[in-house]
Parts: sequence; structure tokens; C-alpha cells
Amino acid sequence: MVYGDFYSELSLWYKNYTSEFMGKDTELDNAVTMKVEHTQRVCSEIGLLCESLKLNETDCILSRIIALLHDIGRYEQYKNYRTFSDHKSANHAELALSVLDYHKIMKEFPGEDADMVRTAILFHNARQIPCSLNKREQLFCKLIRDADKLDIFRIAVNYYLNPDLFPKNITKEADPESADITPEVCQGVYEGVFVEYEKIRTVNDFKLIQIGWVYDLNFSASFRLLKERDYFLQIKNQLPLLPGSHAFRAVSKAERFLEDHAVH
Ligand SMILES: [Fe+2]
Repeated sequence: MVYGDFYSELSLWYKNYTSEFMGKDTELDNAVTMKVEHTQRVCSEIGLLCESLKLNETDCILSRIIALLHDIGRYEQYKNYRTFSDHKSANHAELALSVLDYHKIMKEFPGEDADMVRTAILFHNARQIPCSLNKREQLFCKLIRDADKLDIFRIAVNYYLNPDLFPKNITKEADPESADITPEVCQGVYEGVFVEYEKIRTVNDFKLIQIGWVYDLNFSASFRLLKERDYFLQIKNQLPLLPGSHAFRAVSKAERFLEDHAVH
């Protein structure tokens, strides 16, 4: 099977599929546009990562297929639940697989690659990549997770600088007025462990959790891009960090981790 041809067909299908959600109401239009644009950028980000790893052409196309489809469940999610919050609705990665099944998207794909694409999509938003995945599944899973995070960093930085330009639910139900940082969030980021989104109470919690994402990046290129684009620094500068405070120590530790891993 020629994956390049499949990708072209898939891009057309994706365009038609997403356009069916448009034109019903402004809120849904905005949500769909936001995810379509996010998806386009994740496709570019994953391309940069593949280039840095010098992956062969087939694997580069496979990774772009995963990037194009990773959030395909978001459209049904927003249409049906009016939220992008998984814990208030449904796991959007599982929804993605149902959409792919319903539209028989992977039917012409060789079995092993189809399974790999599905696995990478299923775990793109998981707390951790399961150890049970084989090397190849792990590679593609890591690629989509890093590419996705790179764009979410970009969205977050833009949002913090211009909150009025974004839909109001982008930081879920976090309180934008409060300057507090929830101690449990702070502790989790300091320890470099996953912090449940349910723990988020303020926008500063949100920012701190994103700072902690450095511990979940997988490739030198991801660290370098994060650093070069100043995303980390811009989020750090948006946090109230009193020297010596717990939050200050959590951010400093994450910053050192970033510096250590952003090597050429
Ligand atoms: Fe996603």
C-alpha cells in the first residue's frame, strides 16, 4: 500500500468530515475551527520530530496519519457534550477509535500498521504510555504525545497573553481571578508525577501543570523546540513565583530538567 496516496485521501476525508460539524451554531463552529487548526499544527510538529529522528518516509507518513486523526473524536465530543473536558464527557481518544471504526477508515491498511495507528491514538492522552506496547508502538505514541504537547504549549502561551481571543472554556473551569496555586498541584509538579486535571482549581494550577509537562517529553528535539520558542519561559513568567516558595522550587527544578535535556 502506498501510504502517501492514503494520506492524501485521508486529508480529503478529514476535511469533509470536520466540515459537517460547521454551520450549525457559532460555539460549535469556534470549537471545530480551534481543533482543525490544532490538528494542522500537530501534523507540522510531528514532521519536525520525525525529521530530527531521521525516520524513513513511510514512518513519517504514518506519524502524520496519526497526527491527523489523533483528535478526530473531539468533534463528536463537543457536538454532544459541549466540552473538551474528558472527565465531564467521554475519553476523546476512545471516541476517536469509534469514529475510525464507524467510517471504516483503516480498512485498507495492513493489520500491523492499522493496530499501531490505533494504539498511538488511544494512548495519546493517557496518563502514561503502557509498558506493554512494543517498541514501534511506543515510538509513535511518544511522537504524537510530544507533537500534541508542543502545540498545546503554543496555544496556552497565546491564551495567557490574549485571553479575550479564546473561547472561555479553554482552561476548563479554573478560576481566572484567583492567584492561588493548589498545594497538591505544586507537590505533584515538584515530584514530576502526573497531576489529575480534576485537581485544577485556578488558572495558575493550569500553568504549573503545563510546566510539569517537561517530564513527559520524549525527544531532544521536543525539549529544544520548547526552549527555542520560549514557551516554558513565557509560562514561567506568568506565574507568581516568590523565591523560596514551593512553586518557585517546582518551576526551577523543571527548568533545570529542560536545560539538561535540550541538548543538541
Ligand atoms: Fe487529544
